[in-house]
Amino acid sequence: MKRLFVLCLASAALSLGQQWPEVPNYELMKIPADNPMTVAKVELGKQLYYDKRLSGDGTHACYSCHLKEKGLTLGVATGQGPYGAKLTRSAPTMWNVGYLPAIYWDGRAPSLERQVVGAWTGANMGVSGKDGRPSTDDIAKKLNAIPGYRQPFQSVFGGPATTDNIAKALAAFMRTIVATKERSAWMRFMTGDKKALSAQAQRGYKVFHEKAKCDNCHDGKLLSDMQFHNVGIGMDAPTPDLGRFVVSKDEKDRGAFKTPTLLDISKSAPYFHNGSAATLEEAVDFMTKGGQENPHLDKTNLKPVKLSAKEKADLLAFLKSLDVTYDIADPKLP
Ligand code: HEC
Ligand code: HEC
Repeated sequence: MKRLFVLCLASAALSLGQQWPEVPNYELMKIPADNPMTVAKVELGKQLYYDKRLSGDGTHACYSCHLKEKGLTLGVATGQGPYGAKLTRSAPTMWNVGYLPAIYWDGRAPSLERQVVGAWTGANMGVSGKDGRPSTDDIAKKLNAIPGYRQPFQSVFGGPATTDNIAKALAAFMRTIVATKERSAWMRFMTGDKKALSAQAQRGYKVFHEKAKCDNCHDGKLLSDMQFHNVGIGMDAPTPDLGRFVVSKDEKDRGAFKTPTLLDISKSAPYFHNGSAATLEEAVDFMTKGGQENPHLDKTNLKPVKLSAKEKADLLAFLKSLDVTYDIADPKLP
């Protein structure tokens, strides 16, 4: 009897989960117990995500650097934040961030809630609370003075906007930026629709999977093993960005970065954590030549491979078939 009851609860949770966009036939996204998904919270988070008033100087919304035309990136190598702050890394795509166990190129944030506060108080949004710049509490106060925000915060969180619940609402919205079957031909292909990709793209997938073994790292439906690898990007700089090493202090992580998903890759040039490859072809050539030699290069997973002109064209066609449709409409801001 008891077991039956538990089973019923599990399936109730499953059917509740169905209303949120999901990667088909994949593990369920982990939602923190203290930040459950609700329609009103996601809607509020979406408004906040698109609202420039969240940044220190009013020039940037989250969306400003994660643009749909650019595959949810900024589309420049390393851009600028509020107050003209120079960024040191390129903006990664937002597709499926809700599934990532570790956020950022170096995985330093363990949850989206924590990541939001990092992005918000750091160079990306400039809300440092220092040198005369507003703090997150100041921004929360500003939002509470706007009736169109005061009311939804009250009904979603039972109180005024705070640093904590702004982060929660933003995280909840980001968990809906998912490459679903409806949005992604790749997801349709991976769940049995063999016509979802063209014949050329399917040949390219064979190259990706069998010959070049790109999925040693760009693995599974999410096209990422969610691990950190050194492929040599930026290692020839005078003071290289050591990536994961800065977080883990583990020697083998020197110059290692998170395997990025390749979804929407045709739109998100320039490529790599420092934006050093201007075109997709350049990025692919870098990978097929086996990365850039350096003492920490992951030679176990990344080996040079010679492709014919036709194989290369097929591989590029496959990568271009990984486009995703961003059908999330701009919100009306209060
Ligand atoms: C000025 C540009 C800029 C703005 C504005 C910005 N971001 Fe980003 N975002 C970046 C960059 C650059 C990175 C990569 C930083 C790193 O990995 O060290 C990033 C990374 C991320 C990631 C990690 C993705 C991954 O694959 O791990 C998330 C999530 C994210 N941003 C969400 C947000 C949210 C939420 C906001 C608003 C609070 C925001 N961003 C505002 C530039 C920006
Ligand atoms: C050893 C693991 C590994 C293998 C194998 C691998 N990649 Fe990557 N790939 C990465 C990592 C890690 C990055 C990010 C590197 C950085 O920016 O420092 C990356 C970045 C990329 C990018 C740029 C993505 C972006 O958002 O900027 C493309 C495109 C790419 N890889 C394609 C391929 C292709 C095609 C293959 C097979 C020929 C391949 N990769 C094989 C780990 C790997």
